[in-house]
Amino acid sequence: MTAVRFDYHVAFSRNIGWVTRIEQNVLRGKRVAIAGLGGVGGSHLLTLTRLGIGAFHLADLDNFELANFNRQAGAFRSTVDEPKVDVLARMARDINPELELELFGHGIDADNMQAFLAGVDLYIDGIDFFALEARRAVFAACAERGIPAITAAPLGMGVALLNFMPGRMGFEQYFRLKGQPETEQLLRFLLGLSPSGLHAAYLVEPGAIDLAHHQGPSTAMACELCAGVAGAEALKILLGRGGVIAAPRGLQFDAYRNRLVISWLPWGNNNPLQRLRLALARRHFKGRPPAPALTPNPRPVAEQILDLARWAPSGDNTQPWRFEIMDDRRIVVHGHDTREHCVYDLQGHASQLSLGALLETITIAASAHGLRTQARRRRALPETTPTFDVAFTADSALPRDPLLPYITIRSVQRRSMHTRALTDHERTALADAVGPGYRVVWLAGLGQRLRMALLKYRNAGLRLTMPEAYQVHRDIIAWNTRFSEDRIPDLAIGASWLTRRLMRWAMHSWGRVAFMNRYLGGTLMPRIELDLLPGLACAAYFVILAEHKPVTIDDFVAAGRAVQRFWLTATHLGLYVQPELTPLVFHRYVTDGIEFSTCKGMDKKAQGISRRLRQVIGETGAELGVFMGRIGAGPPPSARSTRLPLERLLIRAAPKTQKQGGNRVTAPAAGTGARPGQ
Ligand SMILES: Cc1cc2nc3c(=O)[nH]c(=O)nc-3n(C[C@H](O)[C@H](O)[C@H](O)COP(=O)(O)O)c2cc1C
Repeated sequence: MTAVRFDYHVAFSRNIGWVTRIEQNVLRGKRVAIAGLGGVGGSHLLTLTRLGIGAFHLADLDNFELANFNRQAGAFRSTVDEPKVDVLARMARDINPELELELFGHGIDADNMQAFLAGVDLYIDGIDFFALEARRAVFAACAERGIPAITAAPLGMGVALLNFMPGRMGFEQYFRLKGQPETEQLLRFLLGLSPSGLHAAYLVEPGAIDLAHHQGPSTAMACELCAGVAGAEALKILLGRGGVIAAPRGLQFDAYRNRLVISWLPWGNNNPLQRLRLALARRHFKGRPPAPALTPNPRPVAEQILDLARWAPSGDNTQPWRFEIMDDRRIVVHGHDTREHCVYDLQGHASQLSLGALLETITIAASAHGLRTQARRRRALPETTPTFDVAFTADSALPRDPLLPYITIRSVQRRSMHTRALTDHERTALADAVGPGYRVVWLAGLGQRLRMALLKYRNAGLRLTMPEAYQVHRDIIAWNTRFSEDRIPDLAIGASWLTRRLMRWAMHSWGRVAFMNRYLGGTLMPRIELDLLPGLACAAYFVILAEHKPVTIDDFVAAGRAVQRFWLTATHLGLYVQPELTPLVFHRYVTDGIEFSTCKGMDKKAQGISRRLRQVIGETGAELGVFMGRIGAGPPPSARSTRLPLERLLIRAAPKTQKQGGNRVTAPAAGTGARPGQ
């Protein structure tokens, strides 16, 4: 490494143009205080150092730890356990060795506040979101001394900025925190920073925000944006360039949503509209289960396995399973089916397929820990509650399953896909994925896709006109959302805005649906948008066939394993899948002579579907088919179902034990048959 002679003017010469030479010298003479050198504070320091600021007062009492790695500028393997002030001072001096630094390694308190703010031209807030006491004290001290103060909060993948300028609305006047309980203060701080709540739209794990336990997620993109936005404000303030928005005006820019909002909140959190928002937010947070602890200690292995395995797919995202952890080597999967209330879950087959997918996912997840998995179904229990004893045994020779990375990113794509044909490599990989006992039949080419799309169209004509299916659709769609833990978000079903609005209105009651269907051609738009057009827009249809006609629970569970390997392999290949199980379901209703609707004429429609299905995939396909759907390359889905947090899927200590089938069986403590979230 060659030592470069440092020259301030050369080092910061590329700023010239956006600042004049004279302004650069002004910046060199400025002194900025930053409290908190974590996510935002560290980036602020490095950004302002590169801007050429000459002196800093830096305060932080923490050391770096592993959980800082996702976002904090000074967090490296080499800096773990080192005081943040020391690390950041070193990094800043590595940029500008002439920096004048005053370090406050015990944080700031009433005793050193005077020294911390002495001679300071600007304060930038980098204090931990939850440390409101310290934050209030510094902002109050800045206001007393006429020091401009900036707070830029990393929210989601964006920044929310507020400047508190001397003589303008102050921090306390804006946020109104005084005398409030702590959780209320945190809520007020959050909503005051972001009255528009831009970031809330894409929060995929709502449980990760837990104000009461001081937990909240944060990204590196947001921290960098904070430093950029606050840096520009700092420049304007320090050079007296004007154009600084000051509280009660604020700014939120969200890079994920590509949106910028300039908010205006006269009276701050006392603004009537804001009080309404606060009331709604209080209701939202009240009664929410506590977030899973983000402890640096890894969870027990069985929990880690299940936390990954819960991402297995299930029909309508019902997640028909609960878990009981006996110890790190034994778990019990308490399954149930939804045949009672879901017309598509004929004899529990769809739930059994899902349980098979779950068991396969457990097996894949366990391979990450060098554990081999064995699952045995308890035969003595009723068919409606398939229950599995799952045992793990250590096997140092067991390789990590290559499908492991795809468990959480596998997701259904119901919208149009690319029509490029699958390559030979893709077809072979997918055909191999299903394993012995299964094979894949492909229906590619425009003619076959058209026949399948028309079958889907007809099939939807049945699904959308029978009251039994209406009840299912009503319960499983989560409206106005991109993500749902226990349902299917409306944005993931593939309908346009207008169709979604109409569907939502109609689904209010069966009367409305019937009226729409009878007089307004109510099924036409959804059938075209959800079935016909996407039905054509894909590379191919696939049918997974079993060697023998599936009959027993075990047949369907085994088929579910093959389905999951197929789907994960598709994800591995960058392909997307939409299952289309319902034509097979109706075909089975017809061939097994089972009534499924109280409505006249539905059996005839089902017979028509069964006949067409047999024409398209053949008698053998219809007889042996266990799963079918469309497949194709991107684009990826923009909305998806997420999953219930593991804590809600776990059955904790059982209240009683009972004797069953010769084994001692622990009775589940929670209602395993209930639909999650209800
Ligand atoms: C057995 C089974 C049957 C399914 N049937 C359909 C279907 O007919 N149509 C559909 O769009 N999705 C179907 N799905 C997809 C689920 O709705 C989806 O997997 C679930 O909502 C979770 O979403 P994710 O796969 O994006 O994680 C099925 C999934 C499984 C496991």
